[in-house]
Amino acid sequence: MEILEAAWIPLLIVLLIAVRNLRKMSKMVPGPTPLPIIGNLHLISSLPHRSLATLAHKYGPIMTLYFGSKPAIVLSSSEMAQQVLKTHDSIFANRPVIEDHNYILSPYKIASAQYGPYWKLLRRIFIQEILSPKRMDSFKSLRAQEMSAMMQSILETALINAKGGVNSLATDLSKEVTYLTSNILSRITFGKKCYESHLGEKTFKEYLDEVLPALSGFNYRDFIPLLRWLDWHGLKKREAEITKIFNGYFERIVDEHVERRKKSSNLDCEDLVDVLLCMSEDESMEIKITRDHIRTVIFDIDTSGSTLEWAMCELLRNPSAMERAQLELDAVVGRNSMVQESDLPHLQYLQSVVKETLRLYPPGPLLLPHQSMKHCTIAGYEIPQNTRVIINAWAIGRDPTAWEEPDFFKPERFFQSKIDVKGQDFELIPFGSGRRICPGINLALCMIQLGLAHLLHCFNWSLPGGVTADNLDMSETFGNTMTRELHLHAIPVPRLPLDILQSQV
Ligand code: HEM
Repeated sequence: MEILEAAWIPLLIVLLIAVRNLRKMSKMVPGPTPLPIIGNLHLISSLPHRSLATLAHKYGPIMTLYFGSKPAIVLSSSEMAQQVLKTHDSIFANRPVIEDHNYILSPYKIASAQYGPYWKLLRRIFIQEILSPKRMDSFKSLRAQEMSAMMQSILETALINAKGGVNSLATDLSKEVTYLTSNILSRITFGKKCYESHLGEKTFKEYLDEVLPALSGFNYRDFIPLLRWLDWHGLKKREAEITKIFNGYFERIVDEHVERRKKSSNLDCEDLVDVLLCMSEDESMEIKITRDHIRTVIFDIDTSGSTLEWAMCELLRNPSAMERAQLELDAVVGRNSMVQESDLPHLQYLQSVVKETLRLYPPGPLLLPHQSMKHCTIAGYEIPQNTRVIINAWAIGRDPTAWEEPDFFKPERFFQSKIDVKGQDFELIPFGSGRRICPGINLALCMIQLGLAHLLHCFNWSLPGGVTADNLDMSETFGNTMTRELHLHAIPVPRLPLDILQSQV
């Protein structure tokens, strides 16, 4: 009996080694063993980019994880990202099918649309009609108006501070920059600001904040159908209610455009809704654009605000970098002028600050999920058709083999390097790369650089009482974008002569 028991142990070891070797021989992508029902979800925290980066240290830059019963390949190095986004771009240009969609995660949106003629048409319209250099130029004054509105709001606080008093007043910078970029984008796409609009009990922004956490794409509910069905906390019900409210709001916006076009002899397209309405009337179009499409396509959540917020955080923690950016502004723009868009190409340090911020805090740390359209081999591993692929851009931007002192904010690192954020350098891919690359790069960079230049040129900034460079809370949350957990508050004081500031805002 004892002899039999003793024989079990080596047998078990041999079996385990055999299983491991089989996994290697069959070229299955390595990864942690999944549990029944939840797969590997227990290993993913509320900050999935961080959990996945930790798992990649153990399993390597290409690993398999099970989200519920669904397998996904997670990539965490620039080489692996290049394989998917460049070498095999045509195979991985699809998105996973959305089963339980709502207003924001709608298959009609460009970002979540399946690769095919509808996505191609929408992307072409978006790039030609909204983001072309000609269009970008025509929206210059709109951007200037929104910059002025933000400056006006901050100046009120700064003027009180300039008079001096016991306590200096802080501005909610997170709120200011979010409104700035969202207002620009919503005015470009459907001709009005939406965040402050009251839709019944709450504002648009308040409803959006309510549903955003549920849209992170990393909820148990998304991967375990049973949980979705049970809907314990009534989240699905609430999401459905808010989706209905948003639908009604955008339906009214489309109506307003239709009415305006009926009444006016000027049929020029002023925004994306006009362009789509024109196309919906075009009988020769191969793909019919319907009102349902228009209503859903026009709103996208802007992520540029979060980059501005993180950039200001890092500059407040690094006063010498803040000073260097301001000295550059003095040299290029001058203390007697406000920043213009034409100044941006000459602000090399400021551009480096933006790149460094996008490296450390990519607003979409896991980009958007891709999916393979056919079988493919990556790094010798067989990847079957319809496999979901997640690219950890956050981990890639902090990879110590690619970046010196990767966790430190050092904008000057870009002085010696040609690395850019535009999808050619796979060490830095905050906008993705390949066919699905973010089409809004130029607009996003313009809004971020211009916003940052205005904030730094017009005001001097400091942290409110009790908060120091060392104890400023830098916690992030992972929702639809990676934003600061707490709003950033900072004290503004006028930096330019008051007559210049007051004449421009
Ligand atoms: C800092 C600001 C922004 C960042 C970091 C960013 C990043 C991204 C990323 C990572 C993707 C997915 C890429 C992939 O699938 O591999 C994406 C897609 C997209 N972005 Fe942006 N984005 C920003 C701003 C904008 C703006 C301002 C617009 C609109 C003008 C925009 C429009 C889109 C659209 C339509 C897609 C979907 C593309 C597709 O699936 O074909 N983005 N963006």
